[in-house]
Amino acid sequence: MSEEDVRGDGGLEARLEEQETFEPPAEFVEQANVTDESIYEQFEQEWPECWERAADFLEWEQAYDEVLVEDDAPTYQWFTGGKLNASYNCLDRHVEDGRGDAVAIEWEGELGEQRTYTYAELLAEVNEFAAALRELGVEEDDVVTMYMPMVPELPIAMLACARIGAPHSVVFAGFSADALATRMNSSDSEYLVTCDGYYRRGDALEHLSKANEGLTDVEHETSTVVVDRLGDDVEHDLGADQYDYDELVAAHEGETVEPVTRDAEDMLFLMYTSGTTGKPKGVKHTTAGYLAYTAWTSHAVLDLEPEDTYWCSADIGWITGHSYIVYGPLALGTTTVMYEGTPDYPDKDRFWEIVDDYDVDVFYTAPTAIRAFMKWGAEYPEKHDLSSLRLLGTVGEPINPRAWKWYYKHIGDEQCPIVDTWWQTETGGHIITTLPGVCDMKPGAAGPGLPGIDVRVVDAAGEEVDAGEAGYLSIDKPWPSMLRTLYRNDERFIEEYWTEYSDPEADEWVYFPEDGAKIDDDGYITVLGRVDDVINVSGHRLGTMEVESAIVGTQGVAEAAVVGGDHEIKGEAVYAYVIPEDGYEGGDELEDEIVDNVVDAIGPIAKPEEVVFTPELPKTRSGKIMRRLLEDIASGNELGNTSTLRNPEVVEDIQRQVQGE
Ligand code: WTA
Repeated sequence: MSEEDVRGDGGLEARLEEQETFEPPAEFVEQANVTDESIYEQFEQEWPECWERAADFLEWEQAYDEVLVEDDAPTYQWFTGGKLNASYNCLDRHVEDGRGDAVAIEWEGELGEQRTYTYAELLAEVNEFAAALRELGVEEDDVVTMYMPMVPELPIAMLACARIGAPHSVVFAGFSADALATRMNSSDSEYLVTCDGYYRRGDALEHLSKANEGLTDVEHETSTVVVDRLGDDVEHDLGADQYDYDELVAAHEGETVEPVTRDAEDMLFLMYTSGTTGKPKGVKHTTAGYLAYTAWTSHAVLDLEPEDTYWCSADIGWITGHSYIVYGPLALGTTTVMYEGTPDYPDKDRFWEIVDDYDVDVFYTAPTAIRAFMKWGAEYPEKHDLSSLRLLGTVGEPINPRAWKWYYKHIGDEQCPIVDTWWQTETGGHIITTLPGVCDMKPGAAGPGLPGIDVRVVDAAGEEVDAGEAGYLSIDKPWPSMLRTLYRNDERFIEEYWTEYSDPEADEWVYFPEDGAKIDDDGYITVLGRVDDVINVSGHRLGTMEVESAIVGTQGVAEAAVVGGDHEIKGEAVYAYVIPEDGYEGGDELEDEIVDNVVDAIGPIAKPEEVVFTPELPKTRSGKIMRRLLEDIASGNELGNTSTLRNPEVVEDIQRQVQGE
């Protein structure tokens, strides 16, 4: 990492280096939503009733009978008997409270266009689109897929679905046509909302043909709604069963749709994510627990107030965008900022320009972005007035202390606490992080488990490890926004998350997040990364098996192993080790085909950083590929013991190739 940011300020850096913990700035604490440190004890003593506090952030059509029902554990049920609607909670009630003119969404396109939706305007358009979806035939419990970039119509479509009780399944726009088809087939989704394209670095990027290509592989009839983002820049045609978004909305102008009454445990959405096998998992989230928990953590961790302007720079195509661009902030009635494009267009200060222009109070981003900012230099944030900021957050991957300190100093001006939030698609909301008005911060350590969250660091047998030792995360008590199952795959749900430490016979269930971690004396947890075959590229989760199966599908490839290697900016990058088939040469041509196949199967985020051709892969005597060794080679680490290998001689050969690049 470059040293340029510390030059000329040795005093502060020295202090930062030696100071292990940072107290939250007094000015922040004075106004923070949560400041009482006894909250940890209260939640422990009142568990599970403590979660009524989260439920109190919602408006219920019918009160719930019980906070937690454990009869079907590990499919826990929360707030049973309760009835509510998520769209009502994110929109109508704020309008009814006289906040219709408050801004719900500030959207900025990459070219600089701005669109503002007040709560009243957002509600109106959600109503109109909900009416349109109904007319297209969408009924309660039908899964509606969205394959869209960061345009306001994406959260509008999500909320319209929530309004009529149709679960949404958002597929990240950067995923490939294949990935879209797999997800629509897996969820039997007959409806798609997509977009003609979007802008990247000033260029209009076509998107609809990718959606259409995906649709050709969908095994059932579909109806598609297309948002026209590119206007005259790129023309598009609509096929049979395809409808223009603006026309649909115009045809339903002024209509309202009564929010459908949903049971607390009715599905709100599905989100596909990567796991150990090649098949993505459809994580199922339900209405009440998810919404209550994301609202609660937006209040307690992100410290959001209705008056705030808040910006999370994630993409709504990932869980972070669902929970902390759309549902949590809107449930609280906050102004949420959406930005379409990249941080370096037209210049590397674009993010800071946005913070300055909109007077952003709370900013939430990924460590990979911070590492890029750090590399670009402090002169970019220095061009702007960032004094509106009150709190900063990070999510998605571990943050190294140096990046943490850069963020603290150059973005937060040492006035803003940082919350380093560990959580997962499956957890729905924050799990490990500091409460910014209560806790000291330790750069690099996410913090303790949140109040009411029983998170531990354990060894392979499930016993808690000593302070300072590495182990695995486990979560020993359920929480409201936990996944309920993997869609139509209860078996895999149990297998993936509930076999490692649970004792089914004794009906004792412990959730296994598949992350390594260490815990300090003070209960602060440093997350070390995935222990399964998932890699984290720029905060995006990728299954190595998914990448491997795309590679071995290439003609001329006999075998492949994919691992994550350290990367200065991305955190981890994809490394592919490939054995060519007899009669094929490993070279540029084969490499190009491999890369194309990976991009077609998953998307550009899965592009290998390096493809290394080798006649053999390092294997144990029992024939297992030694992945750890391949990871060490990719990361340039010193190699451990290779004596258990059947073919130790291949290691040097591979190493030479990687280093030679
Ligand atoms: C990793 C993203 C360290 C972790 C919200 C987890 C983190 C995976 C952090 C989930 C963090 C997320 N520190 N690692 N603050 N946040 N992770 O499902 O490995 O896309 O298991 O959810 O990201 O990724 P997912």
